[in-house]
Amino acid sequence: MGKEPNISPASRVSDITPSLTLEITAKAKAMKADGLDVCSFSAGEPDFDTPPHIVKAAQQALDEGKTRYGPVAGEPRLRNAIAQQFNSKHQLPYSADNIIVTNGGKFSLFNLMQALINPGEEVIIPAPYWVSYPEMVKLAGGHPIIVYTNADQGYKITPSQLQHHITPKTKLFILNSPSNPTGAVYSQQELIPLAETVVNNNILVLSDEIYDNILYEEAEHISIASLNDEIFARTFISNGFAKSFAMTGWRVGYLAGDETIIQAMASIQSHSSSNVCTFAQYGAIAALEDSRSQQAIAQMQTAFSQRRKLILEALNTVPQLSSTIPYGAFYLFVDISQTGKTSLEFANDLLEQQQVATVPGIAFGDDSCIRLSYATDMTTLQKGLERITKFVQKL
Ligand SMILES: Cc1ncc(COP(=O)(O)O)c(C=O)c1O
Repeated sequence: MGKEPNISPASRVSDITPSLTLEITAKAKAMKADGLDVCSFSAGEPDFDTPPHIVKAAQQALDEGKTRYGPVAGEPRLRNAIAQQFNSKHQLPYSADNIIVTNGGKFSLFNLMQALINPGEEVIIPAPYWVSYPEMVKLAGGHPIIVYTNADQGYKITPSQLQHHITPKTKLFILNSPSNPTGAVYSQQELIPLAETVVNNNILVLSDEIYDNILYEEAEHISIASLNDEIFARTFISNGFAKSFAMTGWRVGYLAGDETIIQAMASIQSHSSSNVCTFAQYGAIAALEDSRSQQAIAQMQTAFSQRRKLILEALNTVPQLSSTIPYGAFYLFVDISQTGKTSLEFANDLLEQQQVATVPGIAFGDDSCIRLSYATDMTTLQKGLERITKFVQKL
């Protein structure tokens, strides 16, 4: 008798939790495929098509035979355009050597952790956090140190909270503004003392700025790196084309920062993903260089603003639900604690009883909330909000 094959995942896999956001989206999709009328508030992506001039640029690249392996760190023209954008938008003196193009913003974050974190080093993550941060830290052998924030503080970490959690093992602090899942946007006044804390303790910051173009009312996106030279030298900026340009499936992201780490990341990339799809990078070049992109961003922004207004007004009429006002991204983080349900119970019951898909807050480290994405059309929003109201009234 032959032996049973010894197939079991490596121990690093058992330490991570699969993405709950993807899971519930899959369940909602399966219900839709079964013919059920599901209103999805769970999407983490704009529902718009990629602007046509970006699509055309990629098509042209294909026609021109840009179908081969390219430089591991990205097409030089794209790295240059990204550096230029940092110069003009935030006066950040990056050059192309400070930029690596990655497989989405996600791989820029993952790759940075691999390049930076030694086993046992600590990474400070304010909660609610984007689902993948803690798992990426763990996959790099580091320890995620979760710092809880609440609605009263606008879900923003304070300098004293940050200071309190810094130890000799702290390597990195992750800042995400505008935030997924809360929509919180840090002001310059809020960033200054956080930057001081980082510099005084000589730790590093990873600033995830993927929602930098999706802002409401007077909110402004300030990059922490732009505050002064000392914080600039300690900051890595992650960004990508997915959210700003409705390019989620293109998988083009990037990271900006110290050249030595960019080289280390390129080395990791050379043994893992290799270069990002060459013709997709030409779409990204058009996204940055073609002036029509600004109009496309503005149109999406207007649509998101209308939806945000609708969802905030509708939820205001449900006394058991409350939320902070989001000033960026396209999410609402809704406190459901008055319903007596955990976030998983709430999200599952809502999906099963009213066919509305949301994401349980526990996925973001906060079990008292659910996340609603308003990256969906007004009709679905209206219908879904009526169903949520009905669901809560029946409890
Ligand atoms: C906060 C945050 N960072 C990074 C990403 C990664 O985006 P992508 O890999 O699609 O560029 C996402 C996507 O949902 C996000 O919400």
